[in-house]
Amino acid sequence: MPRILVVDDERGVQESLRMLLKAEGDVAIAGDVEAALRETSVATPDVVLLDLVMPGRSGLDLLAEFEARGVRAPVVVLTATNTVSAAVEAMKLGAADFVTKPFELEALRIKVRGLLEKRALEQEVERLRDEVEERQQLGRMVGRSEAMRAIFRAVERIAKSDATVLVTGESGTGKELVARAIHDLSPRAAGPFVAVNCGAIPRELIESELFGHEKGAFTGATDRRIGRIESAHGGTLFLDEIGELDPAVQVKLLRALQERTFERVGSSRSTSVDVRIVTATNRNLAEEVAAGNFREDLYYRVAVVPVELPPLRERREDVRLLAQTFLARAGGGKKLTPAALASLEGYSWPGNVRELENAIEHGLALCDGDVIDQGDLPISIGRTGQAEALREQWRQGQRGFEETVMRFETEILREALESHHWNQTRTANALGITRRVLKLKMDKLGIEAPGSAVSDDPDED
Ligand SMILES: Nc1ncnc2c1ncn2[C@@H]1O[C@H](COP(=O)(O)OP(=O)(O)OP(=O)(O)O)[C@@H](O)[C@H]1O
Ligand SMILES: [Mg+2]
Repeated sequence: MPRILVVDDERGVQESLRMLLKAEGDVAIAGDVEAALRETSVATPDVVLLDLVMPGRSGLDLLAEFEARGVRAPVVVLTATNTVSAAVEAMKLGAADFVTKPFELEALRIKVRGLLEKRALEQEVERLRDEVEERQQLGRMVGRSEAMRAIFRAVERIAKSDATVLVTGESGTGKELVARAIHDLSPRAAGPFVAVNCGAIPRELIESELFGHEKGAFTGATDRRIGRIESAHGGTLFLDEIGELDPAVQVKLLRALQERTFERVGSSRSTSVDVRIVTATNRNLAEEVAAGNFREDLYYRVAVVPVELPPLRERREDVRLLAQTFLARAGGGKKLTPAALASLEGYSWPGNVRELENAIEHGLALCDGDVIDQGDLPISIGRTGQAEALREQWRQGQRGFEETVMRFETEILREALESHHWNQTRTANALGITRRVLKLKMDKLGIEAPGSAVSDDPDED
């Protein structure tokens, strides 16, 4: 549904426009400039009907605010006949059209419909252009940062060959997705994709897991078993967490990689396979080689084509797109408030994309209504992104200057107090202020130690 915002202080006009336009889209009503800014901060409307003369700030002020904040919604100015010069002024400030009061309802409806259609068309054109200009998606991976788009291009190219690929990157950066994309885009896509997590299989089982075994090869081997390498025949074998592989198995794997043949455990007969190998690790394999934990010859075998995924904190441009992608996948059409988005973009993401995915899930579970706000996100994220979020709310006109500064001060004091277990003397020392000043500030800002009816540190004075 397109979003229509009516900004007018007169009840009568608000109601008649709501009735008139409810068939065209979701109609939101704002009685003044501040309310209109709050509405637009949740989502940009597709069309705005704006009264010029209102108590407090005028419609022209709102147009100037839109300009300053980059809100690019088409605006139809509603004006009394004697203020046509103001309407001209409004057009100069970027209004799309104007109608004079008292307005012909049907004519206004047609005007709004025309603007909505034009806007839908523009958005479609923009979407298509995005699609053509830069690929922001590969398989189930999305990203708009230069780093990710370079990886998408590389993966497409690599997929066509049979080269052995080593995917590195911190936990949660998407290594497994890259491995799958390589398989899915390769000529082997119709063959099997077999993933083995080398770190999750006990070392005494890993050899038979990979290479298979003959009946009676060891106690408990009651049947002949095909290993994972063999079951990947004709497809791709993904060896995840290869850095965890036991040295004895490393030797056997090296030979299998070199000759594409191996023996099942308990057999002397060689088996040959046709597999493409992709490996991944969140360790620094070169360092593991230097430390003697990983065989150098095996390292050179697996690291033929390296793909390195940057941590999310080094590609914050991806955060918004990722968050929106996860929201869209969850369905339900929920949105993030600008403050929540600012928190996400300001956070350091030690758990990378996986952590972001979980944060969105958390937000979806906690939010009520259609929007996920900052308070619906996990505490650590809301907290770290707090400064950025406060600034964003201030920019959006949701909070005044004084309140923003007070909230900022509150956040800092709370954090300092928490990290000193609410001991005021130590907190004051850490902040470089006297305890008396700290106490005054706490009283002024209404900060109290959690669960304490008595307001002072029991261990002091
Ligand atoms: N670029 C991306 N676009 C969309 N989803 C992503 C992207 N990168 C990662 N994800 C998602 O984040 C989660 C973690 O990704 P993945 O399992 O591939 O990470 P990993 O690097 O293998 O992590 P680990 O080292 O912990 O195994 C998955 O749910 C994955 O779908
Ligand atoms: Mg993984």
